Amino acid sequence: MDAVLKIGGVPVTELKERYGTPLYVYDEEKLLHQCRQYSQYFSCDAFDTEVLYASKAFSCIEMLRLVKNQGLSVDVVSMGELFTALKAGISPDRIYFHGNNKTLEEIQYALDNHVQTFIVDNLQEAYLLVEEMKTRDYVLHVLLRINPCIEAHTHAYIQTANIDSKFGIHLESISQIVDLIQTLKQSNHIVFDGFHAHIGSQIFEKEAFVKEIETMFSLIDTMQKKGILCNTLNLGGGFAVHYTNEDQPIPISVFSSVILETCQKMQELYHTNIQKILIEPGRSIVAEAGSTLYTVGFIKKTPHKKYVFVDGGMSDNIRPSLYQAKYEADIVNHMDQKKTEIVCVAGKCCESGDILIDSIALSPCDSGDLLMVYSTGAYGFSMFNNYNRNLRPAVVFVKEGNSRLVVKRETLQELVRGDVCDEDPV
Ligand code: LLP
Repeated sequence: MDAVLKIGGVPVTELKERYGTPLYVYDEEKLLHQCRQYSQYFSCDAFDTEVLYASKAFSCIEMLRLVKNQGLSVDVVSMGELFTALKAGISPDRIYFHGNNKTLEEIQYALDNHVQTFIVDNLQEAYLLVEEMKTRDYVLHVLLRINPCIEAHTHAYIQTANIDSKFGIHLESISQIVDLIQTLKQSNHIVFDGFHAHIGSQIFEKEAFVKEIETMFSLIDTMQKKGILCNTLNLGGGFAVHYTNEDQPIPISVFSSVILETCQKMQELYHTNIQKILIEPGRSIVAEAGSTLYTVGFIKKTPHKKYVFVDGGMSDNIRPSLYQAKYEADIVNHMDQKKTEIVCVAGKCCESGDILIDSIALSPCDSGDLLMVYSTGAYGFSMFNNYNRNLRPAVVFVKEGNSRLVVKRETLQELVRGDVCDEDPV
């Protein structure tokens, strides 16, 4: 085995030299592979299908260009994500706008840019859209977000469909659902297409998705009996990925066929008007393609632990402190050495909870060595925060032995760009 790990054919030592650390590194072939898998397997004869990349998982212009070139659509949840998608050249008819509390400014911005589909969360949003569409002359498509009340076995913070979830309208609130659809129908410029549901994130069980589909088709049937037809069902995202060896995610090919076959079964049962099935994967497209490269700083022993400190931490990856998320890592300039040390990998933030990996076997390391945490491609960069005024790391894509910068490292000047001061002391 080579001593120095290569990602996309590029030695990590070269990445460190060229771009510095901490550094988000994406293997472009892996990103492309995931997109292609979705395009290939999420299709069938019985329905039209569309895969929307949930851009909250990792959004920057180059990523969205890649997604666009692979023929995927995009789900956005804020003006910032929408702006990035438009900048990347995503056509507004391939953009789906989510959010439980879209502001008026965001709604107007999206409508000004002719975003084709809104996923509406609540009645007030529906009223606002009807009002706004009075002065516009294009057709807005709408899906209504439903809370299908399905408990998926994942961290409580990333479950979204428990009974009092803040997202969508509760499945059994039929009169609210009907009211909302009738409200939308007051506008000649709004077309109600159907329903959306999302049951959570990092979900391993096929059964949860099967249950979601059964539940949603039953609702569609109920609506149909009330004379409300819909042609589209969006099943959200949430497909699990591999972080550590304990994780055994279902391959895209398998759950794609489970989803589409279950939809067909339900269609045979209920004879609905559904013609199109959508999914919104985020994490499963980007997580495993991304890793974070750090430089080891100080090393310290405490009575019960050996700490390896790295030059990043909870500001570039908040998931361990927020969700107790687990990761694998290596000393990537000593890949040929045995992992003989049990250490705790901690960051540099002024917070006891700033632990990236509580306990992991690594090869012996020293200050200046390179440590890479794997599978950080989803919700790492996108949940970056400037705590302690740490600078946002750069992002690079690597492929076939070449690397390219896709997001520059933040500078000190950029950090204080928005700060208002009377005189510049420096
Ligand atoms: N669609 C909707 C409506 C969503 O809310 C989400 C994620 C997705 C799709 C994409 O889910 P995915 O395929 O990425 O699991 N920050 C958390 C995850 C929050 C997920 C929020 N919604 C984490 O780092 O685990």
